Parts: sequence; structure tokens; C-alpha cells
Amino acid sequence: MQLMSDHVQSRRRTAQDHHFPIIRSLCRTALAGSAPNEAVQQQVRRLVESYAGEGATHEANTLRQLLEQSEAQSAFAPSRLVRSRQPLPGEELTPKTPLPVDRETATRLVDVLFHEQLPSRAPLFDVDVQGGVAALINEWVHWDALKSMAIHPTHSCLIYGAPGTGKTRLALWMAAQLGLPVVLARLDGLVSSFLGTTSRNIGALFQFANRYRCVLLLDEFDALAKVRDDPQEVGEIKRVVNTLLQSLDSRHELGITIGITNHDQLLDAAVWRRFDIQLNLPRPRFETRVQIARYYLQPLATTDMQLRLIAWLAEGLSGAEIETLARSIKKSAAIEGEHFDFLESVRQLSTLHGGRVPAVRREALRQDNSDLAAMLYEDESLDLEQKELAQLFGRDPGTISRWLRDRSSTRTRGTN
Ligand SMILES: Nc1ncnc2c1ncn2[C@@H]1O[C@H](COP(=O)(O)OP(=O)(O)OP(=O)(O)O)[C@@H](O)[C@H]1O
Ligand SMILES: [Mg+2]
Repeated sequence: MQLMSDHVQSRRRTAQDHHFPIIRSLCRTALAGSAPNEAVQQQVRRLVESYAGEGATHEANTLRQLLEQSEAQSAFAPSRLVRSRQPLPGEELTPKTPLPVDRETATRLVDVLFHEQLPSRAPLFDVDVQGGVAALINEWVHWDALKSMAIHPTHSCLIYGAPGTGKTRLALWMAAQLGLPVVLARLDGLVSSFLGTTSRNIGALFQFANRYRCVLLLDEFDALAKVRDDPQEVGEIKRVVNTLLQSLDSRHELGITIGITNHDQLLDAAVWRRFDIQLNLPRPRFETRVQIARYYLQPLATTDMQLRLIAWLAEGLSGAEIETLARSIKKSAAIEGEHFDFLESVRQLSTLHGGRVPAVRREALRQDNSDLAAMLYEDESLDLEQKELAQLFGRDPGTISRWLRDRSSTRTRGTN
């Protein structure tokens, strides 16, 4: 016993909090989903207070995080969002509305997406991002109330962040929440090789969007910034940027514009300033990664420990990458049926997705079982119990306990 490392000792639980892993798992499951039950939230709040009152800070903080995540998620629950009463000016877009085209090449300048083509589920974000998004949507939902008090609602939003963090999906989902179709600018059609044509196309795009009730979506907006990088085209570039600035200004009173970029540093400062709000979508934190993993692993039944292991594996990854990893695990489960071994599948995917999984995680998973078990046990973000390790490795708790003891004694000998 005296050979156990300090950390392992600090992980020994008193009889009273011995059941905490089960309590945490229960809370996480009960709070999951886009419309968590308020009564459940209230009970978890009581647990948090009770743990905090007893000085069990770790337990209180863990449950508080789950609660915050769930409270932010409730703001997205469909029942909380009153559908827009569409106070926006303009005509109604229908599938028959003629769409603008590039005059030289006849390429379409926009795609129009109607309600049934938009996602009904919100992407999963960290608590602070969810709060920001909910506030923005709330403002748009109450557009007419703000106007009646002579307050200008937010008309434009720039969403920026790394690839696969859910930018496009968020924009489309926001439009769905507002009950508006999306006019999606096709930048391939818009940026023309003919001199002067790009500016004219931008003009035509905004004229179209300003005529109809819609969300104008400028996805991969930096493509227009790239035009400016060509030294041969200085005059044309200035014209394009000026037209864009004027167009963004002209649209300001007329409707909602969402710009998206993952190269925010390429955007002209003047363009950047035109957006009322600049929303950064970071790569998800641990608790959000757990939620994303759970969502994409459905209908596979997963334990809290398995989800945490994936969140640990996916440190620094985007939502889209976590989705890919989850799909890979589901594939193994489907193929292997009753022989499916979760840990084996995680090890396999860390090799198959070498470019995605962080190198330190890949290395960790290549260790033999006893070293890996000790490493996982000591990882504070994972917060695994010996019982959970026993489940993961398919061994009895005695073996796990021996692995951890042996590893501690080896380390102690090594430092002597
Ligand atoms: N936060 C998230 N929650 C749930 N799913 C996500 C999240 N982020 C990404 N995804 C999944 O990844 C897919 C791709 O995301 P999306 O296209 O919105 O990313 P993006 O930020 O626009 O990427 P890019 O910069 O490459 O265009 C989504 O359709 C969704 O399935
Ligand atoms: Mg995108």
C-alpha cells in the first residue's frame, strides 16, 4: 500500500463516495438529449449542493459541469424556441423562383435550401458557445419586438473556426429555427475569370437576397479574399472588395446574413468589421466531446466509461472528426457482433485514423495492457475507477489492482 503513488492514493474513495461513478453515470444519462427534464436538473442541482456542502469539491465540480452543459442545451430545445413570425421584409421564396446566374457562363450564383433540406438537430457545442448561439437566435426570434422599441437587432454574423467544427451545420440549423430558407452563395459561380464580372455577380447575388425573406449564407467566404491575393488583378480586386462592402452595408436593414470562414486571418479587416457578431467555434472540450461521441455512436449502447475514453482519445479533434471515429467504432460493432471488443476497436481506429488521433494518444494505446491501464487510471480528465478499468480490459478487479500496484512499485524502484 505504501508503494502506491500519491495520485493513486488520492484516488482512494471513502465508503460514502464509493458510488460516485454510478451517480455520475446516472446524472450524465438523465441529463443527455436536447430537451432535458427540469425536474432531473433540479435533483442534480441538489446533489451538487450536497457534495459541495460536504467539501467533496471534485464530485461537486464534475456534476456542476454536467448540469451547465445540460442547461445550455435546454436553451436549444424546440419547445423553448418560438418560431419566427417572419417580420422580415421581402417576398416569399418558392422552389419556382428564378435564380440569378452568371451572364457569361450561365453558372448559377446561388442554391436555395428550404426547410426540409435543413438540419433539425443543433450541433453540440461547449456551454459558452451554446449560450451565445441561443442569445443570437432569441434576438432574431424577437426581431419585431426589438424593432418596435427602435432597437436594431443583429443583422449579420460571421462564424469562424477550424474545419469540421460545425460552422455550416450551425448556420443551416439557425435558419431552420427561424423558419427561413437559405440562399447559399455559390462562390464557384460568383468568382469569375472575366474582368469585372465578379463584382457584377456579387451585386446580383445581394439584389436577389434583398428581394426575398431568407438567410443569406456566404459559406467559405474567404474564397473572395483569395481573389485579392493575385497581384495581377489589383484594380479588379479593389472593385470586388468595394462591391462586397457596399453590398453588406446595403443588406444591413433588409435581412440576416451569415458569413463563414475557416481562414479568418485572410479576411479584409473592413469586411470583418461589417459583421455585427463574430462567433468563434472552437474545437469541443471534454464534456462536449462526450456528448458528440454519444450522439454519433447511437444506436450502439455505450457506457459512460466508453464515452469518456473516446473523449480522451479525441482531444483537440473537431466534431466532424469525432463523428468519423464514432462511425468507425459502430462499423466494428456491426461486423464483429457478439465478439465486439470496445478497447480493441479503439486501438484499431487509432491506427486506422493515424492522421486524426493525436500522436500521444496513439502511442499510449500501443502500450501493453498493464501500462495502458495505469496511464488511464492516472489521467485526471478520464477519472476512471478500477471497476471501470476492469470492464474495459475484460479482467477482474483484482488483476487491475495488481497491475496498478506493480506499475507503482516499478516506478518507485526506478526513482531510487
Ligand atoms: N459540434 C458538432 N456537433 C455535432 N456534429 C458536428 C459538430 N461539428 C461537426 N459535426 C459533424 O460534422 C459535419 C461537418 O460539419 P460542418 O460541415 O458544419 O463543419 P464546418 O465547420 O462547416 O467545416 P468546414 O470548415 O470544413 O466547412 C456535420 O454535418 C456534423 O455531422
Ligand atoms: Mg463548412
